[in-house]
Amino acid sequence: MTRATVTVFPDCAPVEVRVGDNLFQCLTALEHSVPTECGGQGICGKCRVQVLKGETEITDVERSWLTPDELEQGMRLACRQTVRGDMWVALPEGVEVDHSAKLRGFEDLTDFPADTGIEKRLVALPARPGEGVRSWAGLLPGEPASGPSVLRALARATATGARELTAVTRDGSVVALEEGDTRGIGAVLAVDIGTTTIAAYLVDPGGAGVVATAACANSQRRWGSDVLSRIALAAEDEDHLTQMQRSVRDDINQLILEVTKLAGVPRERIYRVTLVGNATMEHLFLGVDPRSLGMAPYSPVTSSLAEFPPSAVRLALPDSARAAFAPGVSGYVGADSVAGMLAADMDVRPELTLLIDVGTNGETMLGSSAGILCGSNAAGPAFEGARIGQGMRASKGAIERVSIDDDVRLGVIGNVPPRGICGSGLIDAVAAMLNAGVLEPTGRIADPGECPAPLRDRVLPGESGNSFVLATSDQAMAGHPVMLTQKDIREVQLAAGAIAAGRKSLCHSRGVHESDLERVMIAGAFGSYIDPGAAIRIGLLPNVPLERVHSVGNAAGYGACMMALSREAEERAARLAESAEYVEFGSDPRFQDLFVECMEFPT
Ligand code: FES
Repeated sequence: MTRATVTVFPDCAPVEVRVGDNLFQCLTALEHSVPTECGGQGICGKCRVQVLKGETEITDVERSWLTPDELEQGMRLACRQTVRGDMWVALPEGVEVDHSAKLRGFEDLTDFPADTGIEKRLVALPARPGEGVRSWAGLLPGEPASGPSVLRALARATATGARELTAVTRDGSVVALEEGDTRGIGAVLAVDIGTTTIAAYLVDPGGAGVVATAACANSQRRWGSDVLSRIALAAEDEDHLTQMQRSVRDDINQLILEVTKLAGVPRERIYRVTLVGNATMEHLFLGVDPRSLGMAPYSPVTSSLAEFPPSAVRLALPDSARAAFAPGVSGYVGADSVAGMLAADMDVRPELTLLIDVGTNGETMLGSSAGILCGSNAAGPAFEGARIGQGMRASKGAIERVSIDDDVRLGVIGNVPPRGICGSGLIDAVAAMLNAGVLEPTGRIADPGECPAPLRDRVLPGESGNSFVLATSDQAMAGHPVMLTQKDIREVQLAAGAIAAGRKSLCHSRGVHESDLERVMIAGAFGSYIDPGAAIRIGLLPNVPLERVHSVGNAAGYGACMMALSREAEERAARLAESAEYVEFGSDPRFQDLFVECMEFPT
């Protein structure tokens, strides 16, 4: 078998690979974060790399995604390239996303009333068990939990002459024995497994709140950015399922290492772990074939609370920790949404609340303590920068703010020349274009002659409609303009229209008007960055007074922390998952009409 080397710039040593291997597969196997939405199927155009040295053959797919100039400079789509010999490859700058794990929008859980069921009691060990005590185990403040680990720890302590132990009990059983007095040391862990980002929160049940957070990209991205690609790959080959399970587990174990280091809490002192995520993430994490989520009626294998010992999924935690995946409502309203509803107190507060998580799947929840309706629809990934010609994630060089008066003003992440546009920039840009009269409510980009004079030069006519230049080639990083095409605007209409139609469908079902909404909560990292006024302008959010709109950051992470801290919160989540009514938008006869109606931007 012929071998060759691939060297990834700027600073990686050459790595040996097989000639004939796919370049995308090689790079992802080497743990490089190559942008992708299609998992290497050649349909997203995101896996751009620059081949600095080495033989390549340009494919038709690459010609359709890359300009002649880019091809000339060696830009290629990694998934369309085969390793033919030694190669030098440069990855695009700034592909890393802001994987901040901050719980924006909520308090920090300080003084949250913990109710973990965990107690720590000091045990004094005499030289001998003494009168009336038949064994050393009789000195413990409860029965040892099943399994020999507590007995082994006890034997070790007696053999070494230890005089003081701390017994950790859960619901009366001793689940761990720790040497010395460790009563002040302990934590619970919450993990939010997002399709894109995984976040971990270490929380002190003693009242100090969140003591450490860490987050990383979900390494499963190499199998595609959306759940459907991952479901398809897992269904196609059991190896893929195993690899995806291993990949998410490795990510979480790395995060456990980071949060425990940051907080100075040994991982043996984590006693309770709550995981949340959408149903696909749950199935892949548990190693359960997710194919039933990919076909009607999209039923999950499980949606109830799943408890397991950490060793069953090879989490780097002792089995004395009680681990559980939170319950979900349905295949497309998962445990993360339930955690979000819990965080928003939708089950206990009387105000009519709309909670939206804008992602590839727009999960929408509407209700109050009087009952909750929820639904989900494929909003498309436009607001994550996907399917937008120059769309990108919120990383360095992404346009994140746009305003237009007699000129176009841009805010760019990292204060560098722009190289693309992320979701919040997209919403701003479309809202500003509508206000400036460059964009019609139908979504058509006006002709130059129909636009205000100072903006006319920015409209470029093309065969499939006009484009609007946000950053000229002089201003942009790559030397060619950053613009929104007519097709990009259509993608925004599809995404915003789907979310708006879902919301309106729920309002119809509940018999309320959008103006009745007392709280509009937008969850997810993305929600923290968007301008609510612009989101209302394009119809993504309902037209309610701005003071009713709240960006609540990672509501799912917060809800997971609540469940990790409290059995009562976990029971609330179980009741919520059970009682929330799932509305299948596909079977709502009004939905299609609402969708068509919502495709137009508000006037
Ligand atoms: S086109 Fe290559 S990963 Fe999507």
